[in-house]
Amino acid sequence: MNISLRNDPLLQPYQLKHLTLKNRVMSTSHEPAYSEDGMPKERYRLYHAEKAKGGMALTMTAGSALVARDSPAAFGNLQAYRDEIVPWLRELADASHEYDCKVMIQLTHLGRRTGWNRADWLPVLAASPVREPAHRSFPKEAEDWDIERIVADYASAAERMQAAGLDGIEFEAYGHLMDGFWSPATNRREDEYGGSLDNRLRFSFRVLDAVRAAVGPDFIVGIRMVADEDLEQGIGKEEGVEIAKRLAGSGKVDFLNIIRGTIETDAALTKVIPITGMRSAPHLDFAGEVRAATKFPVFHAARISDVATARHAIATGKLDMVGLTRPHIADPYIIAKVMAGEEHRIRPCVGATYCLDRIYEGGEALCIHNAATGREATIPHVISRSDGPLKKVVVVGAGAAGLEAARVAAERGHSVTVLEAAPQAGGQVRLAAQNPRRKELIGIVDWRLSELERLGVEMRYDVWAETDDVISLGPEVVVIATGGLPQNPPLEAGGDLVTSSWDIISGAVKPAENVLLYDDNGGHQGMTAAELIANAGAKLELVSPERFFAPEMGGMNHVPYMRAFHEKGVRITINTRLKSVRRDGNQLVATLGSDFASGWSEERRVDQVVAEHGTLPLDELYFALKPLSKNGGAVDYERLVEGGEIFPTIRSEAAFTLFRIGDAVAARNIHAAVYDGIRFGLRL
Ligand SMILES: Cc1cc2nc3c(=O)[nH]c(=O)nc-3n(C[C@H](O)[C@H](O)[C@H](O)COP(=O)(O)O)c2cc1C
Ligand code: SF4
Repeated sequence: MNISLRNDPLLQPYQLKHLTLKNRVMSTSHEPAYSEDGMPKERYRLYHAEKAKGGMALTMTAGSALVARDSPAAFGNLQAYRDEIVPWLRELADASHEYDCKVMIQLTHLGRRTGWNRADWLPVLAASPVREPAHRSFPKEAEDWDIERIVADYASAAERMQAAGLDGIEFEAYGHLMDGFWSPATNRREDEYGGSLDNRLRFSFRVLDAVRAAVGPDFIVGIRMVADEDLEQGIGKEEGVEIAKRLAGSGKVDFLNIIRGTIETDAALTKVIPITGMRSAPHLDFAGEVRAATKFPVFHAARISDVATARHAIATGKLDMVGLTRPHIADPYIIAKVMAGEEHRIRPCVGATYCLDRIYEGGEALCIHNAATGREATIPHVISRSDGPLKKVVVVGAGAAGLEAARVAAERGHSVTVLEAAPQAGGQVRLAAQNPRRKELIGIVDWRLSELERLGVEMRYDVWAETDDVISLGPEVVVIATGGLPQNPPLEAGGDLVTSSWDIISGAVKPAENVLLYDDNGGHQGMTAAELIANAGAKLELVSPERFFAPEMGGMNHVPYMRAFHEKGVRITINTRLKSVRRDGNQLVATLGSDFASGWSEERRVDQVVAEHGTLPLDELYFALKPLSKNGGAVDYERLVEGGEIFPTIRSEAAFTLFRIGDAVAARNIHAAVYDGIRFGLRL
């Protein structure tokens, strides 16, 4: 089909009861953990307002806003059980309504999906005392007085949301209290809330009745529900569709937001929210089947990562509203770009799931390659031209940090030249994308390269820049983004016998037959090397000095690595340090030691020892340029964070300001590199 703005299925309005949604694109509920004291304050508001500005029709705020006190926050959830939330949500709704973006909120009682030792230390409860592995609580069985209390809590939370001027609410019914009653896997009750489907749905219908009595028939109420747990003993497809039909036919809900799968382990969760390397839109057809069976408004999100797939979902009638949730974390301006005929300029969501993994580790959701998301108060998504003097900027290094600095400086209007030693841009991101499963990461590089082309940035490859090369370009600003090179872990002996993880990932060294991989860095680098070695058919032992291996990587990213390790029989040894390596004939002997028991030692005889210990900055050029620069390389960190001129003048006669970013300073990660790139770039 020849798509124009007029006939683009994604841009057609959708009528949901009295509510006109201006197009078919929404952000489904997700908790970015930006709440402060359980409230959606400025950071939360600005985050949603930016998406509204970017053109989406509906933003479903919160992730699992809490209806009751005995549902303590698992990841910074909003406290919808407190009256104080009303004015904060009103401000948020007003800010989004300004751009005709409708605002709803997800309400829930987390049930067993939270910790027992949080907030007020009230007992965690569920339909039956079945433990949830991910949060490790042993819930008590909800008693009659609990049920009465929580039904009333749902109703008063719904009333608060209505009072805040929201356009509607949805209940969360997958992995939480509500569907815990539905599922035979988690409901073992013998009273009127257990057994038959009528009984298992009783709690939900009691909630719906109480909510309707509180908010009236017009307020929009939906449900984000599991319609197939894909689990032995769980709710099967047939029963799930029956639940959907009963809810749709009840006259008490206005839309269904469809989920397939369970979330009680990290491995299960990645099937519901697939990460990079997993299938695109795996549950879209199923959501379409539910829509066909119920003839009811259906919403859905699950790795519908690009506009073409989203368009297909609407055009083929599988969905009424399509959720592009992580895609909007990566780029809140998706619809604005579609409407401007600039679809190709959308910053791609590469599925890295750094965003989600961070919230489970107690952090806030940050996008691996958009440092403005969640930092709207200080970092703009749309970069304006500098009104100061335009400068000649030379960026040395075209990895994530250098490309981002170049992009931002060029958006500011400066004239930018990038010098890169390799024949291609991308640095460590390109290396990471060598893992076929993570090849989408190259989108981080490709998106920037196409932006740089649009902005007229000059790229020079195969240039190992020395002082004179830089000076001869006559720069007023020099950005050192030269990255780093792998370093060995501290060893008593045998450092020269060790192969780096980079050599394995790049393919420069082939995995041997019998390999020991030592990783004391704890991120993707060691895991990627291990995955490639295991997939090459080698016998592999992975050794880590940590209590858990790869602690720098979140639980969702852990899943595919662990799958490969189990499938390929990788032996995993934790709490153990590599002490030394020696040659013995044509083999290597690795000596292992313990931080805990100084006398403990073991040896491993292998063909290859691979090590991952981060990088050492490639900083020669920086130190050579430092004495020639205006600021001596210095940066005022206080002002970098708080505002003001960040480069002190040490030599006023010097021609250029110098600073370094990314791993050229110290080994970190892609987000840190991109954040450096933009926050320094904005100050030029
Ligand atoms: C940081 C983050 C937090 C999330 N929290 C919730 C939540 O609280 N409730 C919910 O129903 N879904 C939550 N989700 C899932 C999203 O709503 C969505 O289903 C998921 O990201 C898949 O859609 P996508 O591929 O378009 O991102 C969360 C997702 C992210 C990225
Ligand atoms: S971190 Fe990755 S998955 Fe999350 S929004 Fe950014 S690109 Fe998408």
